[in-house]
Amino acid sequence: MCGIVAYLGRRHAYPILMNGLYRLEYRGYDSAGLALLNDDLQVYKTKGKVSDLEAFVSGKNISGSVGIAHTRWATHGEPNNINAHPHVSPSGNMALIHNGIIENYVYLKEELIRRGYKFRSSTDTEVIIHLIEDFMVNVEVPLEEAVRMAMDMVIGAYAIVVISKHDPHKLIAARKASPLVVGIGDGEFFVASDPTPIVEYTKNVVYLDDEEIAILELDQELKIRTIRNQEKVPYVEKLEMNLSQLEKGGFPHFMLKEIFEQPRSIRDSLRGRLNAAQGVVYLGGIRDFEQKLVNAERIIIVACGTSWHAGLVGEYLLEDIARVNVEVEYASEFRYRNPIICEKDIVIAISQSGETADTLAAIELAKQKGATILGICNVVGSSIARATHAGSYTHAGPEIGVASTKAFTAQVTILTMMALMIADKKGTIRRSRFHQLLNELEKIPSKVEKALLLNDKIREMAEIFKSASNFLYLGRGYSFPVAMEGALKLKEISYIHAEGYPAAEMKHGPIALIDEEMPVVVVATNKELYDKVLSNIQEVKARKGIIIALVKEGDTSVANLADYVIELPDTEESLMPLVATVPLQLLSYHIAVMRGCNIDQPRNLAKSVTVE
Ligand code: G6P
Repeated sequence: MCGIVAYLGRRHAYPILMNGLYRLEYRGYDSAGLALLNDDLQVYKTKGKVSDLEAFVSGKNISGSVGIAHTRWATHGEPNNINAHPHVSPSGNMALIHNGIIENYVYLKEELIRRGYKFRSSTDTEVIIHLIEDFMVNVEVPLEEAVRMAMDMVIGAYAIVVISKHDPHKLIAARKASPLVVGIGDGEFFVASDPTPIVEYTKNVVYLDDEEIAILELDQELKIRTIRNQEKVPYVEKLEMNLSQLEKGGFPHFMLKEIFEQPRSIRDSLRGRLNAAQGVVYLGGIRDFEQKLVNAERIIIVACGTSWHAGLVGEYLLEDIARVNVEVEYASEFRYRNPIICEKDIVIAISQSGETADTLAAIELAKQKGATILGICNVVGSSIARATHAGSYTHAGPEIGVASTKAFTAQVTILTMMALMIADKKGTIRRSRFHQLLNELEKIPSKVEKALLLNDKIREMAEIFKSASNFLYLGRGYSFPVAMEGALKLKEISYIHAEGYPAAEMKHGPIALIDEEMPVVVVATNKELYDKVLSNIQEVKARKGIIIALVKEGDTSVANLADYVIELPDTEESLMPLVATVPLQLLSYHIAVMRGCNIDQPRNLAKSVTVE
């Protein structure tokens, strides 16, 4: 994890770095640090958040127009001042920031210790800066060559930036399996883990590829070399992002802003792809693989976290509508269990960030076995977007709250379109039914708008349940993944223990937990399984559990049984996850606010998990 940002130019680097760290804080927030080159190399770092770093440097020398900064999510070494980045070379002349994991650091460290080097931290990162200085001093090569030689020795994932007192007009950056983007301004360069710290200064960016080293020098063109020492021509892309997307826009938290953005973000996912009037659904990004998708005998969906829940909805949709065999896999399990993958298989990788290490590794495995890999990513140009053969961007816009909300509904929107596209081409649904579903899908943004009107009511409910220690979420069919996602949201940000369960499975375990203290959220929107869900509710009531039911507008049977009712706008069963998830996001949000939790940066979590 971790977020890194660097600047080289003529402006005052400090505010650019600090601003960048705030933007990247979603990636990790247990310690932060920065290094500036002025008359000397100034390094400031501290345990805590970026605001702690800001307080810590107050009154200190923060001049300089070259600098690097880091916000950390600890992997090796506890979060403390020493383990915080930047790490400094033995002579004190160079500083480095790193995002990733160096897998062979123990071996490299032992070697360096044997040769007399001393280490200050317990991180894997420190070996890199020692190695770089070792090459500079003992092989007498320039900084960029020393970085190249050092990175050739390390095994693992890295995005690094190095500065040196002896090269005060140079930044060297390198990446492998951790994201890094270079912004090219007018006589200035920016480097960051994602484009959010860069967008207000320049729209011209170069996404570094694996094993590439960027050499940034004042008044020089950007140069890129590979670890194998080959020159590469930088490919400059234009950022399609604006500043307002990165601000809270009047909301107290990014999460709430993102929940309320969903009518817009779902519309953006549908834009140019769905035309209900003409009966068209078209996913341009995967057009070259459309036939393969239609002919697929099996689709394997790989993802983690909330994206995995979107994958579960995808499984229901693809099997139900497009009659194709689907398996949904946790990327981390899939890659290590010797899965059976054939050349005819289509693997769909779902990831908001496009950087999740396990998902990326699952893609590589499936690729080796010859499968076709399609991506559903939110972050444009991300590692997963580039590793897949083709894909559809969700176009939800930057998601900054660590708990994923609008990315989920956008992912489900894309999966719905995929299922409809396949179904239509395969003829697994009648044309009239196809039209009906397209029409209803087009209306989903306005139904989500309606669901958002429940906000005040849900806030009142949150007041009642804010002190609960456990929550159970139940659902059947399409409502089961919604229940899972509702439970995940609650535990992520409120730290209340919550479990999502298939309603009928409750009898095989969770029912033992039910008493008068246990709120049970039942997603009871299914038409087909309605009676069965009613029975499940009875089972909970018989044990004095408290029922919070999500029902369709006008439902009276469940409403009469439940203690609390949330009425949702009616829609097709297969599209209901797009609507039903929204009040559950709001419920978690309000409970977490009332419990005084850090909404956008919940403890121990990170937005993008680039470690395995
Ligand atoms: C982390 C985030 C989750 C996210 C998961 C998968 O755990 O906190 O919100 O669902 O990673 O991330 P991805 O970017 O691959 O969707």
